[in-house]
Amino acid sequence: MYSLLFAPLLLHTVAADGWGYKDHDGPHTWQGVCAEGFRQSPIDIRSIDVDYALLPKLHFVHYHRSGSVALVNNGHSITATGFDQWDENQPYIYGGGLKHKYRLAQFHMHWAQRNDVGSEHTLGSLSYPVEVHFVHVKEGNSLNQSLSEPDGIAVVAVFLTIGNDGTGMSMLDSSLKSVQDQNDTVLIHGYRPRSLLPDHTETFYRYDGSLTTPGCQESVIWTILAEPVSITEAQLASLRRTRDPHQEVFAFNNRPVQPLNGRRVLYRPGSFDRALLCGENGASAYSFFGALLVALVAFFLNF
Ligand SMILES: *[C@@H]1O[C@H](CO)[C@@H](O)[C@H](O)[C@H]1NC(C)=O
Ligand SMILES: *[C@@H]1O[C@H](CO)[C@@H](O)[C@H](O)[C@H]1NC(C)=O
Ligand SMILES: [Zn+2]
Repeated sequence: MYSLLFAPLLLHTVAADGWGYKDHDGPHTWQGVCAEGFRQSPIDIRSIDVDYALLPKLHFVHYHRSGSVALVNNGHSITATGFDQWDENQPYIYGGGLKHKYRLAQFHMHWAQRNDVGSEHTLGSLSYPVEVHFVHVKEGNSLNQSLSEPDGIAVVAVFLTIGNDGTGMSMLDSSLKSVQDQNDTVLIHGYRPRSLLPDHTETFYRYDGSLTTPGCQESVIWTILAEPVSITEAQLASLRRTRDPHQEVFAFNNRPVQPLNGRRVLYRPGSFDRALLCGENGASAYSFFGALLVALVAFFLNF
């Protein structure tokens, strides 16, 4: 009751909804499921926690279509919304071991001010500078409904890495200048979400987790694409100039990694036979015949 009574007062002095990434409202202060949950996200993906899995291909449908999105600085991130207005063109995903179809609701980004930190998920404790989250809601559900189901939401995470190729971010970077402050919104016409996916989406990690922001609902099936997308230094610099509710640049908006608590991470290699025979990624002691069997099964599953 105390917090309910005082919530309206806090709204004016803290971020719009009372949480953020500063000392006084950052991840270590988040309460409820964020503090008490057992399948929280993000996680550090270590090879000893990873199992090879015969997951089918994940399909990205209508991701190449174009439509209007609103790019918004919501005080926590830069978010692209409006996909639910695309009607029959609304992008969705299916397959990849998901039991349902999931429709794209929005995507947003996590970053920091240095190149060696920024992503939420880490691979063997190494970070990428940016992580994009494509948030999908189970078909037929409202977002609210999905938040109360253990597989209500499917997030596809894409790492961004610094390179010479800026085509992935090119439809967004000029608009980033228009959303530097909280509540700034700009409409982008003809946006294609496929541009922010890597060329190859066959290789990914999969585990059961949560939202990485309050209330940290444990309703997310995570897919973390192994191949990153290139962005330029200049594009990264304009993302880093966007400001938090205190009119300061975000020092970071990535939550620290959370305990696995016995969860296993599945890994779908892009190429079964080669990856298994070479024992990549710490997968040890796969017999030749085991690998052959896997390759055959993979063949018949039509990879
Ligand atoms: C953004 O909107 C929220 C909600 O109306 C408000 O509390 C906040 O002060 C606004 N932020 C800025 C920087 O104007
Ligand atoms: C969302 O769900 C919660 C309970 O899970 C409920 O209290 C709340 O009223 C719902 N909100 C909407 C907008 O349906
Ligand atoms: Zn996120």
